[in-house]
Amino acid sequence: MAKPATQYICQQCGAAFSKWSGKCSACESWNSLVEEKIDIVPKGMKSGRGAQLELVSLDGVQESSVRRVSGVNEFDRVCGGGLVPGSAVLVGGDPGIGKSTMLLQIVSQLSKRDVTCVYISGEESIDQVRLRARRLGVEKTPVKLAAATNVRDILTTIDSGLLADVLVIDSIQTMYVDNIDSAPGTVSQVRTCAFELIRAAKKRGLSVILIGHVTKEGMIAGPRVLEHMVDTVLYFEGDRGHQFRILRAVKNRFGPTDEIGVFEMTNEGLAEVANPSSLFLADHSGNVSGSAVFAGIEGTRPVLVEIQALVAPSFLGNPRRAVIGWDNGRLAMVLAVLEARCGISFSGKDVYLNVAGGLRIHETAADLAVAATLLSAISGVPLPTDTIVFGEIGLSGEIRAVGQTEARLKEASKLGFKRAFMPSKSKGKKIANDLIKVDDIDYIHSMLRHFDTSQNQKVG
Ligand code: TYD
Ligand code: MG
Repeated sequence: MAKPATQYICQQCGAAFSKWSGKCSACESWNSLVEEKIDIVPKGMKSGRGAQLELVSLDGVQESSVRRVSGVNEFDRVCGGGLVPGSAVLVGGDPGIGKSTMLLQIVSQLSKRDVTCVYISGEESIDQVRLRARRLGVEKTPVKLAAATNVRDILTTIDSGLLADVLVIDSIQTMYVDNIDSAPGTVSQVRTCAFELIRAAKKRGLSVILIGHVTKEGMIAGPRVLEHMVDTVLYFEGDRGHQFRILRAVKNRFGPTDEIGVFEMTNEGLAEVANPSSLFLADHSGNVSGSAVFAGIEGTRPVLVEIQALVAPSFLGNPRRAVIGWDNGRLAMVLAVLEARCGISFSGKDVYLNVAGGLRIHETAADLAVAATLLSAISGVPLPTDTIVFGEIGLSGEIRAVGQTEARLKEASKLGFKRAFMPSKSKGKKIANDLIKVDDIDYIHSMLRHFDTSQNQKVG
């Protein structure tokens, strides 16, 4: 019999090599190649005839696909309005961030609504999960629980007439199929386990939720192909030091991406945060320099968040530019525009930028808020109180319009803000004008007059 072929597969990117080496030449990560046995594609493929496929038109009667709604709004919204039958959801996140806690809460809510939920724990024993359930106060809900890691057992259990609707696998890295020799968590195991589980889910109209570990770089461990196989990819993120947890959709075949759900970790598990702005602004005090409130949009919801900056003299040859919660490259761009178009120099100064509350902003609309924060920090002059800022900055210093002006202004006015620095060309301004006083900003220079930059020297 032919010896089974082995390959060396990078556990970070999934690239395959015939020889071992210390460094993966595809993704450049060190010590990530692991020997795995591979199944050779059967040679007889050419001779056998496949069945003829039945081709249909695009227009047809859809099988009813009523979404399974948990009642936890923050979760349902991120999924696009509930779990779709026959779909697979992958939830990734750092260890200890609260993935198991969240999913146990979700399935217990679902099971209260007559959805049969099965929770398979590969990481914790039954007693540990029960202990957690008691702590969360959900031990009386009819969730079906098992501690297992063999995918064949799980599939047999589902096949044996158990009419499950939702299946949670905690986590996919602990699962294994017994016809592959590699250890659980390796690329070929993760890929095969996920494939088998997803196939079973599609066949039976089951919604399967896979929990996945993330690597040091914050990607879901295992091959990228895992993210391609599932219908929805959610990341559960947050700062360990903060109580807030953010559930973010990065891929969704059945709903919008960029949608976020906000939770707060309490002693009794995760609590929904219906109004994130008030949470992110809880510690905001109006009259300090180096702080601005950015009116952002996360998915369909406006979210107000404080951006803080500190500009301090540097003793380093290469001054520090430290950013938390925003893009490093964009900060460099805003600093360059301020320097080149307004003549405000940040050389010889360390710049620290922080998005309060542990939120990560992806919008370019935050440019103007960052510029305002930096100008305020370097001049020592606070922004006018009760002011929000948003707008995108172009390289020539022009302020570009951004979308959803009305939603941003409405949210700001709801939270008691009276004034907005925003692009002059924005649509929807007329409607909002009576809610809030609008200061049009065409060019970055127009921002300057709000700060007395003659005090600039005091800082440097
Ligand atoms: P867990 O769900 O085990 O994280 P993951 O599955 O992502 O690894 O979350 C564990 C953390 O959550 C732990 O640090 C304690 C905290 N926690 C609470 O603060 N309150 C609670 O009610 C629970 C159950 C956990
Ligand atoms: Mg866990």
